[in-house]
Amino acid sequence: MSKLLLRTLQGDCGDRAPVWLMRQAGRYLPEYRALRSKAKDFIAFCLNPELATEVTLQPVRRFGVDGAILFADILLVPHALGQSVSFIEGEGPRLEPLGDAHALSHLSCSRMSESLAPVMQTLRAVRAAMPPQTTLIGFAGAPWTVATYMIEGQGGTDYERSRRMMWGAPELFKAIIDRLVDATILYLIAQIDAGAETIQLFDSWAGAVPASLFEAAVIDPTARIVSAIKRQHPEIPIIGFPRAAGSQLARYAVATGVDAVGVDHLTDIQSTSVALPKRVALQGNLDPVALLVGGVAMENEARRLLTTMRGRHFVFNLGHGVLQQTPVENVTTLVNLVKDAA
Ligand code: CP3
Repeated sequence: MSKLLLRTLQGDCGDRAPVWLMRQAGRYLPEYRALRSKAKDFIAFCLNPELATEVTLQPVRRFGVDGAILFADILLVPHALGQSVSFIEGEGPRLEPLGDAHALSHLSCSRMSESLAPVMQTLRAVRAAMPPQTTLIGFAGAPWTVATYMIEGQGGTDYERSRRMMWGAPELFKAIIDRLVDATILYLIAQIDAGAETIQLFDSWAGAVPASLFEAAVIDPTARIVSAIKRQHPEIPIIGFPRAAGSQLARYAVATGVDAVGVDHLTDIQSTSVALPKRVALQGNLDPVALLVGGVAMENEARRLLTTMRGRHFVFNLGHGVLQQTPVENVTTLVNLVKDAA
């Protein structure tokens, strides 16, 4: 049986749109919560190949989604570079904020392959255990988004420290981005070598970058990562997700060299589809709140999206991750609807 998601990302139009969901593994699933309580903290959970393999496979088994996304987190990269990272229950990530060149000099790629080896074990185990028609998705955070956590020390800010650094200490900002470009290339090539069949770069906070710095903070680092991966693995499709990039999305799609772009739910996917070159596949863009609410409203919206994107290389997904309060049965209904639509 062939892999519908992989083929669609490589430019084929199959009989139906493939479907997977960002954050398809997570606390909305009772079987996730049961395993999560077995690890001492979230980083240990991600770096336990046995638990991470099981959690990666949970949504594949329960819903029959076309993609299995590696269970890990974008903040494993700062952790592997040597920054202190922890997750506080109910509050989110906390890092030792990175504010000067001295602190950056302590962060090095040299320990990365050792500390992230468990992730590669997870990928190999998932690849061996997953159904043959499923596509294994590796991922990393894009440099800008990871840098915001490293500089702010947490999420949910207005990125003022990061933007102060961009304007006030551009050499330091560039040095952080460059370190992350190197680390991300190493990490993603290792994921591909361990069995990832496609890669997604999450740039969740791309929408917070001042327009005149978008090239330097988002497009250029992404383009460098894409070209380094393509040099070694030209056959591996790369999905870029510059969330809330708005009017910059079309330029991103062309200038970074990605094979597909994630489209958030604030963006009109029909006009985006027209504006982008046909070689670029689109992925998205159902509002995660429509999935949480479910019912006829969700079903109508999902059908509208499928109709709009008919004939286009399109991967059904959300505009952002599954929310924690989402009823599991809504996800079952949605995935079945997409799989039954001709
Ligand atoms: O199912 C999947 O999508 C694969 C696993 C995955 C996780 N995080 C697991 C996770 C992926 C792809 C991510 C990406 C990620 N992590 C992003 C980019 C996507 C996005 O949502 O914008 C970002 C910004 C992060 C950083 C992060 N990780 C935050 C801000 C938080 C705390 C908020 C929260 O939901 O608790 C996390 C923790 C996290 N990552 C959880 C999961 C399942 C919840 C932790 C727990 O179980 O206690």
